[in-house]
Amino acid sequence: MSPTDASRPRLPTLAPSAPFTPFTLGSLTLRNRIVKSATYEGMVHEGLPTPALVRHHRELAAGGTALTTVAYCAVSPDGRTFSEQLMMSDRAIPAYAAVTDAVHAEGGAAALQLGHAGGFSKSRELRLRRAPLGPSFAANPYGLLSGIPFVYALREPDLRAIEADFVAAAVRARSAGFDAVELHLGHGYLLSQLLSPVTNRRTDAYGGSLDNRLRFPLRVLAAVRAALGPGFPVLCKMNLDDGVPGGLHVEEAVEIARALERGGASALVLSGGMVSRSAFFLLRGERPLRAMISVEPKAAQKLALALFGPLFVKAYPFEPLFFLPLARRVRAAVRLPLALLGGVTSRADLERALALGFELVALGRALLHDPGLPGKYARGEAERSGCEPCNLCIAEMDRPGGVCCAQVPAQLARREREVAAGWHRQAAG
Ligand SMILES: Cc1cc2nc3c(=O)[nH]c(=O)nc-3n(C[C@H](O)[C@H](O)[C@H](O)COP(=O)(O)O)c2cc1C
Repeated sequence: MSPTDASRPRLPTLAPSAPFTPFTLGSLTLRNRIVKSATYEGMVHEGLPTPALVRHHRELAAGGTALTTVAYCAVSPDGRTFSEQLMMSDRAIPAYAAVTDAVHAEGGAAALQLGHAGGFSKSRELRLRRAPLGPSFAANPYGLLSGIPFVYALREPDLRAIEADFVAAAVRARSAGFDAVELHLGHGYLLSQLLSPVTNRRTDAYGGSLDNRLRFPLRVLAAVRAALGPGFPVLCKMNLDDGVPGGLHVEEAVEIARALERGGASALVLSGGMVSRSAFFLLRGERPLRAMISVEPKAAQKLALALFGPLFVKAYPFEPLFFLPLARRVRAAVRLPLALLGGVTSRADLERALALGFELVALGRALLHDPGLPGKYARGEAERSGCEPCNLCIAEMDRPGGVCCAQVPAQLARREREVAAGWHRQAAG
């Protein structure tokens, strides 16, 4: 050893290939540790996946992602945030099977994210009914301009129906060839609304103490686990912090993680924020208000966002691995596999996450920007993502043809070609 070598600081003895080693999740073996986090694609026609959704996830699998997550599939028509959203039904199975076949052909695995919007809905079909349903009666500013200004409190029969919808959707997902399902317990949708003290004001067995607020989410997890059997991977995406005053914070998140571990979750994806109240807490970075206004369908919605957006849409600065300090609190408390999410921007971030004990790493925007990034990291062709993060993809997902990175001209041009070919108006399969 030369004197120069001896004076160098000692690096941790982590194999450089650690993010690219296989990992077993229940009955599923992933080829590496990289998960594509659910980012709503908007590649949907009448609730069904379009050919663009097949292309999108094929490309992610071909680029080296081990597990790609098809985003935000509503478990029932009443569980939609907006009318044109992915749903699961028997009729939809062949279209989803086209997605899973494409992913498998590239050596990847696919998960379906299952959610219910709860009270956070502007789905026009809910007008003139006791809907949308959430933990407690409340105003629904998000649905105001769509004619659904209130959220109505869930009753026991509603809860039973929603539990059955989650189970039916999960079983159909498995029939469609998905290798895993991800239950959405975060971001201010129904299960997150029940968990959060800021939205759950109930005084019955589903509100008040954390045990009570956990009661229904755990019931859903238990029912899905029972229906799918012990080996099928059931991931849970949960909040570490709601990012709103009076909301859920990490102390309770640690208890939620423990309860989900006992309840049979295969892995947790650790996130935060509520889309309706703290959207950029979960994203960090630029607030692309002008682009968001441009994709609002109605003039009144455009005006409301232009007037109130700068005041109410709070900005949060971006930093790499922005959920790491909170996620480590959960890491210290549970033994089940965890996916670190949020600002994973470089190969060094992947290695750091694994060195700190996270088995999986989930990436959203970096893979929208470049679906080939995992392969490039593995081959040593890239060290970091080129994602800014400008967050323009938040608006792009609402344009015809669905999500793409607004900074990549080839993606914009391809979307134009797909729209010209009518892909946005056809179901896959
Ligand atoms: C365009 C876009 C759409 C998203 N849609 C969803 C979604 O449908 N479900 C979800 O759980 N998270 C969604 N997210 C959040 C991401 O899964 C992820 O939590 C967030 O982008 C932080 O990860 P990143 O820093 O790797 O991008 C979305 C994010 C973006 C940018």
